[in-house]
Amino acid sequence: MDLKEKIRVIEDFPKEGISFKDITTLVKDKEALQYTINALCDLIDGEVDLIVGPESRGFIFGTAVAYRIGAGFVPVRKPGKLPAETISYTYDLEYGTDTIEIHKDAIKKGDKVVIIDDLIATGGTLEASAKAIEMLGGEIVSIISLMELTGLNGRDKLKDYDVKTLVQYEF
Ligand code: PRP
Ligand code: MG
Repeated sequence: MDLKEKIRVIEDFPKEGISFKDITTLVKDKEALQYTINALCDLIDGEVDLIVGPESRGFIFGTAVAYRIGAGFVPVRKPGKLPAETISYTYDLEYGTDTIEIHKDAIKKGDKVVIIDDLIATGGTLEASAKAIEMLGGEIVSIISLMELTGLNGRDKLKDYDVKTLVQYEF
């Protein structure tokens, strides 16, 4: 299946010059959703304890993959959303910074973790997620994303990890 046919591209959203990749058209299509989750699962090798998904689009794909492979799911969230003790990781954006949080007790030392999200743009979200997981003693088996914007070189930030994506766009 050509997933690019299922992903709607909206120009100049949320601001001029951005070519937004809208996955809502993919996930509402039952065949495309099933195909995508199966294809993401096929990218996973070996033993996995936990899937981690960054809020919010990472929840859609991450939970379905976790269910299918029989792993648990752990959310990475935007600040102030998680109720128990968290650790946070702050990363640089083009202008300013962003922060993610994860529950401290969500990952045990030695847990084998796959991180799943919909998109690698700058790679900042996934790098921050990976660092937070490692701070808690988790081992990153791989980082898997539905889409990748190759022109933003997110893979440079993620060079220490095994990164796999299903669909590539330049921008
Ligand atoms: C988008 C996308 C990825 C991230 C990729 O999430 O879903 O998580 O940006 O960008 P990066 O590689 O430059 O970090 P966003 O923060 O827009 O939030 P959402 O998932 O809640 O829509
Ligand atoms: Mg996201």
